[in-house]
Amino acid sequence: MQLVILFCALSVTISSVIGQKNNHFAEGRNTIVHLFEWHWDAIASECENFLGPKGFAGVQVSPPNENSVISNRPWWERYQPVSYQLTTRSGNESAFADMVRRCNNVGVRIYVDAVFNHMSGTSGRGTAGHSSDIGSLSYPAVPFKSNDFHSRCHVNNYQDAKNIRNCWLNGLPDLDQSHDSVRKKIVEYLNHLVDLGVAGFRVDAAKHMWPADLKAIYSSVKDLTGHGLSGKPFFYQEVIDLGGEAVKKTEYNSFGAVLEFKYGAELGNAFQGRNDLHWLVNWGPEWGLLAGTDAVAFIDNHDNQRGRSPAILTYKNPKPYKMAIAFMLAHPYGTTRIVSSFAFDNFDQVKKYLQMV
Ligand SMILES: *[C@@H]1O[C@H](CO)[C@@H](O)[C@H](O)[C@H]1NC(C)=O
Repeated sequence: MQLVILFCALSVTISSVIGQKNNHFAEGRNTIVHLFEWHWDAIASECENFLGPKGFAGVQVSPPNENSVISNRPWWERYQPVSYQLTTRSGNESAFADMVRRCNNVGVRIYVDAVFNHMSGTSGRGTAGHSSDIGSLSYPAVPFKSNDFHSRCHVNNYQDAKNIRNCWLNGLPDLDQSHDSVRKKIVEYLNHLVDLGVAGFRVDAAKHMWPADLKAIYSSVKDLTGHGLSGKPFFYQEVIDLGGEAVKKTEYNSFGAVLEFKYGAELGNAFQGRNDLHWLVNWGPEWGLLAGTDAVAFIDNHDNQRGRSPAILTYKNPKPYKMAIAFMLAHPYGTTRIVSSFAFDNFDQVKKYLQMV
């Protein structure tokens, strides 16, 4: 009897954790498209007119929560949260809800870029008009106060897991997710998005948070409902692990999927002639990749397409870029993701039609 109860408890635990690696794709569909910096109205139309009919499975959207308004409006202001209210240059909450409903109606899931490692490092007003004050660490529209943050130090030693996870990344105030009050606000935000019909989350800067804290947060988020969705949301985490650092992707893949950064770096080299394609005969875990069931595979993303690594292929090198993407989409490994953003000549450049908003 006790053994049966134990077994049931164990299988419930295991299946709920496995849910967090389930991408919740509708039958017969594949691939997430990251529509970086797109407006919610434009994404809704794209789902109906292109992604749905062409068999795509999902869209990763830019962070929907209020962010700091930074001069010249660089794209990265969206990674500086002021509150969890859903008003940004991509649209307000009603436009967001309309997008999620219309995409789900044509079988396309929405995945939110969730930014909760830190808050904004800028004092002033956010996109919904709320204030942030970096001096007093005050974000009244959440609210978060100074005791919700780790004390100030800079992430500068990638051989030290405590430095990576307790210090401030790029000068951004680092939330302490071990506090119940902090966890509660994050879970409320994610639950609100689940209520609006999203299917999962790309967890920004997961490498800079403690696995135990993330595990606790994910397990507190409610199950999906509506549009044929059930179980825990899909969590896929930004853990940049190309080897040689203190934080490993294998610390995160038991309770969620992980963005496999090695995937695009290795394929980028191979399709630029820096490795023989015949070596790809055993492409997968034998190359040091996570198991496909634990991984989101991609060639480039919004960050590394602006980076300086020669391994990373982007739209600026179209022929090998398309070859690498075609190989990825044809190969049976992981959940695949492609990116559709905008052409740029400098790092800070903003998508054109957003500049005026
Ligand atoms: C949301 O934005 C739309 C325009 O996209 C506007 O018509 C509507 O009034 C806004 N809703 C709220 C509640 O602000």
